[in-house]
Amino acid sequence: MSQRLTDKFGRVHDYLRISVTDRCNLRCVYCMPEEGMQFEPEERLLTFEEIAAVVKVLAAYGVRKLRLTGGEPLVRKNLEQLVAKLAAIPGIEDIALTTNGIFFAPKAEAFRAAGLTRINISLDSLKADRFRLITRGGDIRKVLGSLEAAERVGLQPIKLNVVLMKGLNDDEIGDFLRLTLERDIQVRFIEYMPIGHDGHDWKSRYIPLSAVLDRCAELGWTAEPWGRVYGNGPSENYRIRGARGSFGLIHPVSDHFCESCNRLRLTADGNIKPCLYWADEFNVRQYIGDEKALADLFFRALDIKPQNHEMAKALAGEGQSHTPTARRMSQIGG
Ligand code: 5AD
Ligand code: SF4
Repeated sequence: MSQRLTDKFGRVHDYLRISVTDRCNLRCVYCMPEEGMQFEPEERLLTFEEIAAVVKVLAAYGVRKLRLTGGEPLVRKNLEQLVAKLAAIPGIEDIALTTNGIFFAPKAEAFRAAGLTRINISLDSLKADRFRLITRGGDIRKVLGSLEAAERVGLQPIKLNVVLMKGLNDDEIGDFLRLTLERDIQVRFIEYMPIGHDGHDWKSRYIPLSAVLDRCAELGWTAEPWGRVYGNGPSENYRIRGARGSFGLIHPVSDHFCESCNRLRLTADGNIKPCLYWADEFNVRQYIGDEKALADLFFRALDIKPQNHEMAKALAGEGQSHTPTARRMSQIGG
């Protein structure tokens, strides 16, 4: 193999998150405004061939894991064809999908056959009415159907992403934990991050994830540290004693995990982002077809990758050392 993708702090990058579209069929309150989002015109999105060309070069430098995100990745037609192309690239070992689960069930089989290995489904409430409010219109039955379809076709592990928000869904922590008792899934509680929206709403909704362990203890369950969920970079994992599934805490704000960051991001409009939080980006489009130039660009991006994000400073209202991204989460893909 060629040189590894190492940055100034010695972090080796073997994971690429690919946002395939900035569009979404939902409008989750923490992610997009209800109206007035400006989306990239279709011709500005990288084609599947262009994405595969970028991944091929990254794979030659040691990228092994991929995740497709959005917006909602299934808004992109025939996404399973991209999965098949990526699965055929030498070196790629693992292709995961993050989806809101509305469109997945009917395509589960096709994705599995194309080479998808795992799935994360976003589900912030187990109550149909509340789910509809948080997503501004989503039908929870579709999401639960997709969860079952993922189990049926044998995607493993299956993770549910739950963004915890004070006063919106923090009273459901116990219900989500209970789900792990019976089902072999991992519920991942995610701290609400200050990306691409006005700070005051974020601060009033933010809760640290110690709330999850507190609730678990209140319910009389013993949470044991649990190391065995594949593909869990930044997640701190537990299992309730005797449970089939497990749960994870992802706390980018209260305790960042930047020192072990192994990821690069590719936006739908063709920008490499070395860090989720900061504004720096490098456009790949003009270099596609020139493997040497693409590799140089990746190394330039890695070279300026900051040591960490400063979301905790944002919470404390302190000044920051760089410029935070102006993108919304739907334009980055988490
Ligand atoms: N903070 C935390 N998580 C978020 N997501 C979207 N916006 C935010 C935010 N501001 C989550 C989605 C999805 C994943 C890609 O990122 O719920 O599960
Ligand atoms: Fe769509 Fe995901 Fe954003 Fe919700 S969080 S609006 S499902 S992109």
